[in-house]
Amino acid sequence: SIADRPTLRLAPDADGIGEAARLLGAGRLVAIPTETVYGLAADASEPSAVAAIYAAKERPRFNPLIAHLPDEAAARHEGIFDETAAALAKAFWPGPLTLVVPAAPGGSVCDLARAGLPSVALRVPGHALAREILARVGRPIAAPSANRSGRVSPTSVAHVLADLDGRIAAVLDGGTCSVGIESTVVACLGGPPRLLRPGGITRAELRRVLGIDPAVGSGDDSRPIGPGLLASHYAPRAAVRLDVERIAPGEAVLLFGSFRPAGLDEAGVVETLSERGDATEAASRLFEALRRLDASGAGTIAVVAIPADGLGEAINDRLNRAAAPR
Ligand code: TXA
Ligand code: MG
Repeated sequence: SIADRPTLRLAPDADGIGEAARLLGAGRLVAIPTETVYGLAADASEPSAVAAIYAAKERPRFNPLIAHLPDEAAARHEGIFDETAAALAKAFWPGPLTLVVPAAPGGSVCDLARAGLPSVALRVPGHALAREILARVGRPIAAPSANRSGRVSPTSVAHVLADLDGRIAAVLDGGTCSVGIESTVVACLGGPPRLLRPGGITRAELRRVLGIDPAVGSGDDSRPIGPGLLASHYAPRAAVRLDVERIAPGEAVLLFGSFRPAGLDEAGVVETLSERGDATEAASRLFEALRRLDASGAGTIAVVAIPADGLGEAINDRLNRAAAPR
C-alpha cells in the first residue's frame, strides 16, 4: 500500500544504511542510490512488497522489474546462465549491466516481479551503498527507477522526492549518480544475445566480450520481451524536438559540444550536456538537464544532434522516447 507518512531521508552512514536494510526486510519501499539512477527498492521475494512498487510508481503490472543482487553467486541462485551470460557477468559485474535469463527453478524472485514471465532480469550494481544494503538484506531486491512511470529517471534525492514524496517509506541519500543513465539490458535466453535497452555499458564494450554485435530487440515485434521498452517514456512535461538546427523564440534548449543552432539568442533557457562533446559526461547530466529545462515552463525542449557512439547510443534512445508521441 502507498505510505501516507512523509518520506524519511536517510544519511549514507551506518545508521542510515541499517535503517534502509531494516525497512526493506520488513517489506517497505526505500529509494536507494545506484551508479546508474536511483532505484525504488523492495523485497523481490515478497509479492505484497512488489505490488507496492507498482502502486507507488503507477507502473503497469505487465512491465517486469529488475532483481538486484550483491554478487554473481547470489544472481546464479535466481537465473540460469548460459556461456554468454556467464562471460558478460564476469566482464561487467558489478556494474551497469542487466542480464535477462531463464528464471531458476529454486529462485526466490516472485512471479509478480517477473510480470509472470519465465525469465528474470538480474543486476549486480557497482554502487558501494547499494551493494552493502543488498548484502545485509540477503534477499533479491526489485528496483525499477525511482520515478513515476513514464517520467524522467532520477539521479538525485531531489528528483526522487519530486515524484515519490509521501509514497515511499524512505530514501537513502547517495548524492548524484555517477553514470546517470540506466543499465544496459541484454537477454541471454538461448540463441544469440539480444540488446533490449542500450545503457551504461556501451555496444563497443559488449562487442569486445561477445565477439559479435548483439542483435537488437526481442526478435519478434509483435511480442516485445522488454515491455517497458516501447514508445513514450522518459517524458518531460514539455514536448521534445530532436536534431534541431534552428531555435524558435522562447524554446528551452539542450546543447551538446560546440554546435550552436540558429536563433539560440532567443532561447528561453539553455542547458549544456557536455561542452567538450564527451558522451560519458553528457549521460551523467542528461536527466538533471531535462528536469531543469522542464521546470522553466517552456512548451518545447529543442535538442541538438548528439553523436551515437559510446554512451551516445543510450542518450539518443532516451531522447527518442522522450520525443515519442504520447
Ligand atoms: O539502471 C537500472 O537498470 C535501474 C537501476 C535502479 O538498477 N533500474 C531500471 O529499472 O532502470 P526499470 O524498471 O526502470 O527498467 C527495467 C527494464 C524495463 O524496461 C523492463 O521491461 C525490462 O528491464 N525487463 C525487466 N525484466 C525483464 C524480462 N524478464 N524480460 C525482458 N525485459 C525485462
Ligand atoms: Mg525506468
